[in-house]
Amino acid sequence: LHASAVLDPGAVVAPVSRRTFGSFVEHMGRSVYTGIYEPDHPSADEDGFRTDVLRLTRELGVTMVRYPGGNFVSGYRWEDGVGPRDRRPRRRDLAWHSVETNQVGIDEFARWAAKADVEIMYAVNLGTRGVQEALDVHEYVNHPEGTALSELRRANGAAKPYGIALWCLGNEMDGPWQTGHKTAQEYGLLAASTARALRSAEPGLELVACGSSSSAMPTFGTWEATVLEHAYDLVDYVSCHAYYEELDGDLGSFLASAVDMDHFVNSIVATADSVGARLRSKKKINLSFDEWNVWYLSRFQGQEPATGWDVAPRVIEDEYNVADAVVVGDLLISLLRHSDRVTAACQAQLVNVIAPIRTEPGGPAWRQTIFHPFAKTAALARGDVLRTRLTSPTYGTARHGEVPVVDAIATHDAETGEVVVFAVNRDQSDAVELTVDLHLFAERLRLAEACTLTDGDLTATNTLDNPDRVVPRPNERANADGDELTVVLPRVSWNAIRLT
Ligand code: AHR
Repeated sequence: LHASAVLDPGAVVAPVSRRTFGSFVEHMGRSVYTGIYEPDHPSADEDGFRTDVLRLTRELGVTMVRYPGGNFVSGYRWEDGVGPRDRRPRRRDLAWHSVETNQVGIDEFARWAAKADVEIMYAVNLGTRGVQEALDVHEYVNHPEGTALSELRRANGAAKPYGIALWCLGNEMDGPWQTGHKTAQEYGLLAASTARALRSAEPGLELVACGSSSSAMPTFGTWEATVLEHAYDLVDYVSCHAYYEELDGDLGSFLASAVDMDHFVNSIVATADSVGARLRSKKKINLSFDEWNVWYLSRFQGQEPATGWDVAPRVIEDEYNVADAVVVGDLLISLLRHSDRVTAACQAQLVNVIAPIRTEPGGPAWRQTIFHPFAKTAALARGDVLRTRLTSPTYGTARHGEVPVVDAIATHDAETGEVVVFAVNRDQSDAVELTVDLHLFAERLRLAEACTLTDGDLTATNTLDNPDRVVPRPNERANADGDELTVVLPRVSWNAIRLT
């Protein structure tokens, strides 16, 4: 099989947004407790954070972390998690039917985020709470000093405000499973009044209104239109959430999940722009794809709901294989392709819960297969995203119709001259030779690095006993002669090729 692409340094989609490489820590399962935080662990630092997880978080290249939920946030009282730890209440978490000990709250998380060198994206509870509580947590975290809640923060050890810029106005409020679920009309009004109040406290905040929980929601599209009709001038982003899995043994459709993500983004951009047109607004609403990943959701939905009210139970600790990693790499290609409108994104989640990093309590931390395409893309995507004109053979899928075998995107750093091509081959039996026309670049580009993630066994995983079973390996079948790059993409593979 053969595919080709033409790259033009003048055909810029947008600069790579560093916020594309966001992640998510929810008070759910073992994401916080025995994930990022485990005071008794041999690697724990003076604050009780696992330094092995901190090291892997930095290696992953995460730039921003959404916190504290997720479905959890819709029943959360942020003030439970501040002040002396021995006085913090234990509460029921209705979202995951577990007990929240509140031993980690916003002060601890802010300390962890500083150590991990990530920006915090903070979600407020608009499920069981409203404008006042959103203002209160904002006063606690961002108001400098001299008011009750800013002084409480200072008394709790944080003299300086945290300066959190990006705020989610609730979580998945379109979902009937959400505590305090609302209609689009109800939520749109609440999001608008919360945004208005937060902006009058701090005009420069960046605010994210809840969009659809998935493109399969019956209100997909109409939800966003109604919410934005109320909140267009008051928010900067609308959120998108999407999880993908192989269903009914249909690997071909699963490998083309990025086609659905493209469709999701294009649909919501069109919806937001049409509201803008009706309002005669020059402003553009961007997309925050703040939950995306592979998640074997149907297996989770098939289980009995937890009833044990345990602390930090094992919940959705999915083990990822080679095909999952190829899909994750392709979803990142899709996000980069839409960098002009998707300027923030969070892979859900970071540790243990549908996550690139796994841990055992008291034991090691390791990289799942999906860790690798994320880490490589975060490390290599620099400068501008280039519109990538691709010609590829196609194949038929049950879920997405006829789709290209090859998907690809490229970035170009005008300062260093470096070009990076990210490409996947979705074909299940054949390699594809990809040629990339480089003659429009002033520099004669040479191959600096080519790596590929694939395996003879697409179901291979990284486990506690064999944590490096699946890793990217050098691709020896890549060549660049200045005018053209040629690379052989093995069947079902994710690839990154760096040219200097
Ligand atoms: O990431 C897991 C859950 O998925 C989140 O809590 C929720 O927002 C989504 O449905």
